[in-house]
Amino acid sequence: MLRTFVSGEGEIPSSGLVSDYLAELHFRISHLSGGAVASYIPELAKADPKLCGIAIATIDGKTYSAGDADVEFTIQSVSKPFVYGYALERHGREAILQRVGVEPTGEAFNSIVLDEVHNRPFNPMVNAGAIAIAETIKGATPAERAQNMLTLFSRLAGRRLSIDEQVYRSELETGHRNRAIAYMMLNSGMIRRAPEDILDVYFRQCAVRVTARDLAVMAATLANDGVNPLSGERVIATEYVSDILTVMNTCGMYNYAGQWSYDVGIPAKSGVAGSILAVIPGQLGIAVFSPPIDQHGNSVRGVAACKEIAQDFRLNIF
Ligand code: DON
Repeated sequence: MLRTFVSGEGEIPSSGLVSDYLAELHFRISHLSGGAVASYIPELAKADPKLCGIAIATIDGKTYSAGDADVEFTIQSVSKPFVYGYALERHGREAILQRVGVEPTGEAFNSIVLDEVHNRPFNPMVNAGAIAIAETIKGATPAERAQNMLTLFSRLAGRRLSIDEQVYRSELETGHRNRAIAYMMLNSGMIRRAPEDILDVYFRQCAVRVTARDLAVMAATLANDGVNPLSGERVIATEYVSDILTVMNTCGMYNYAGQWSYDVGIPAKSGVAGSILAVIPGQLGIAVFSPPIDQHGNSVRGVAACKEIAQDFRLNIF
């Protein structure tokens, strides 16, 4: 049975106890070792591996946190589900499905493979799919597209966000694998504009600075059917929230998605700067940030924390 986190069986009855629970969980997971800080984007290698923050935001607008929940880092792939939602809203399901599928790959997030039947990226959570989706960001110039993208994330977080220029430049200078993926998709007709143009907004999108608390609010926006519970603003149309959650569930943790579903059982998305965002629909959003990642690109402490929370409150939706 699905227990509710904030009410009902298995409840944590008061704000104080939620905070105490998170403090204890934080104490346990912040001592875990294993994994390594991402270094294929040189600027990310400078991250402090000891950082560890957990945050929860409920659909009635309460936030709870422990540890380094207000330290900024770059959102990286956790941006992908949100731009996917934006693209669906702008162009509709059919048009987007022509360009990006909804099948898990069982491959790494940066794999250079397209679905050979349709010649399109497998899903919007791997780099290929996310680059194709980034083409849908509105704007006549790179500056306008960057601004529109940043506005989307600011509305999701409920505060004005900014881009980490150093991380953006670092990926712009070294992201040749993503460049190869973009050119391959230009060849197959899955993108139409100049690859460098699309990569520019994709690299900026990955370099948006957020905190674990921001990600918890973004997750709670998905849990709340697209309305940011802090600002009350609708950011994602209700009809596309289930599309987003479905691909997060099947593809959000890359080639660990099956095991994640088995162990944790809630839709989630990870990013190589060390964050994981997870959604309990109709209840709350969870975010964990800790830079060391495993071989799949998922935060080691983030996975451990989500496993514990899911077990403690029987959140597995299956
Ligand atoms: O495109 C990239 O490689 C990065 N900007 C984002 C990758 C990422 O976060 C994958 N997540 N685990």
